Amino acid sequence: MSKICVIGTGYVGLVTGTCFAELGNQVTCVDIVVEKIERLKQGILPIYEPGLEEMVERNTRVGRLHFTTSYSEGLDNAEYIFISVNTPTGPGQRGADMRYVESAARSIAEELDHYAIIINKSTVPVGSGDVVSRIVSSSLKRPDVTFAVVSNPEFLREGAAVLDFMNPDRIVLGSSDADAARKVATLYLPLRAPFVITDIYTAEMIKYASNAFLATKISFINEIAQICERLGADVKEVAAGMGFDKRIGRAFLDAGLGYGGSCFPKDVRALAHMADEAGLHPQMLHAVMDINYDQRRLIVTKLTSILGSLRGCTIGILGLAFKANTDDMREAPSVDIIRWVTSQGAAVRVYDPVARETADEALKHENVRMESVQFCGDAYEVAEGADALVIVTEWNEFKSLNMPQIRGSMRRPVMIDGRNIYEAAEMNRLGFIYRGMGHGTGPAPSVLPSGDATSLPPAQLELEA
Ligand code: UDX
Ligand code: UDX
Repeated sequence: MSKICVIGTGYVGLVTGTCFAELGNQVTCVDIVVEKIERLKQGILPIYEPGLEEMVERNTRVGRLHFTTSYSEGLDNAEYIFISVNTPTGPGQRGADMRYVESAARSIAEELDHYAIIINKSTVPVGSGDVVSRIVSSSLKRPDVTFAVVSNPEFLREGAAVLDFMNPDRIVLGSSDADAARKVATLYLPLRAPFVITDIYTAEMIKYASNAFLATKISFINEIAQICERLGADVKEVAAGMGFDKRIGRAFLDAGLGYGGSCFPKDVRALAHMADEAGLHPQMLHAVMDINYDQRRLIVTKLTSILGSLRGCTIGILGLAFKANTDDMREAPSVDIIRWVTSQGAAVRVYDPVARETADEALKHENVRMESVQFCGDAYEVAEGADALVIVTEWNEFKSLNMPQIRGSMRRPVMIDGRNIYEAAEMNRLGFIYRGMGHGTGPAPSVLPSGDATSLPPAQLELEA
């Protein structure tokens, strides 16, 4: 049993603190937002995360998990201090904003009165471990106190955060103090995961490279999806066929309207910024971001290619959160899509199982014309009188809707499936004008006359499609 302090009770901090308490440690979580801490003390969570509420309740009840706004209370005898405050994109929309990490480091230095290991869990640019060391050394109230700094990036996904924390693929630890890194490793022993123990720069880089690679995989399959559409192939089957190759892997090859969330967009931007600052030209990273942006726009292109002008149209939006099983609206594609279609004169009817409040805030924050936005209680209400439906978030409940009922209540049976959750053939059979992402309607082999397809001149092929 160790004594742990976690600074920041967001997705990473709250899950980290609660899971360490669940593993039997004494944990105190500190956050500067008084209201957040007051609500956490009453068992009210600031985020929606499957399985987290029960775990917070259980560990608070047995006295292993505590919440405070006070650094002195949080740091009291803590052997390990995890920094998991937010590192959003900074001014100029490029690098990571380190203000909160730096302020947390200063607050730690002011209260630290014993040896402790300070651990960066937030995603921080390469070299941030040194920044934290410098700040703590120069701001220590008790100059006789010693400490170590370790980088320990988190790889949890929102919507599966507790599961991912408790079942990590690997634990990454980086420090110039190998002994300190090994000490932090002991906290994770119950999880029986492989360790990567390395220098602090490399550990920081592993996090960025991992997120950037996953984002690249998504942008790659989205580029392939666009090619499939032109050439008549089906990207879902392409991804399946590719994914059997162990060197490729099926994961993160779901084509759609692109990635969002609190991590991929800002981490790819931050990594590209680090490379630019280092005098490099990260072409791939820029391409990943450009493709991702274009994917969102594609939804509007598909709508206008079928409906023409969107002025006076009613567009139904199913799903607002950046992905299923979370209420997080950070960099959610829905916000851009709603802004673009409402700015073209359309009204939108929207629904999300859990992100209604966060979406209302996010849309207002992004200056969307709220008079054109109507929040609905379910998917059926969204469909009533709609000229088109757009699947934006892949919630399971959208996969088993009564489609004839949906079709019957729409003004025009147009379905833009931004997450490829439906089968084109089935949707066509039900009478929808259906458009998926990467499902080609080009020269389908089935219409080719029997016998050798190659015998027909290419032009002929096109005519018959
Ligand atoms: C954080 C990092 O932002 C991100 O880079 C990393 O990839 C994952 O961890 P997240 O947990 O999603 O992301 O951040 P957020 O949900 O914004 O929570 C940060 C918390 O820190 C908030 O509760 C905020 O109030 C708190 N905070 C912020 C402090 O307690 N002190 C500060 O000085 C700043
Ligand atoms: C991600 C990383 O997965 C996680 O390891 C890291 O710690 C934080 O960032 P998260 O942002 O919560 O986690 O969500 P993730 O499940 O990775 O999805 C990110 C975005 O990519 C979502 O918008 C999702 O819809 C999209 N996505 C994901 C695709 O478009 N296609 C895919 O195949 C997978």
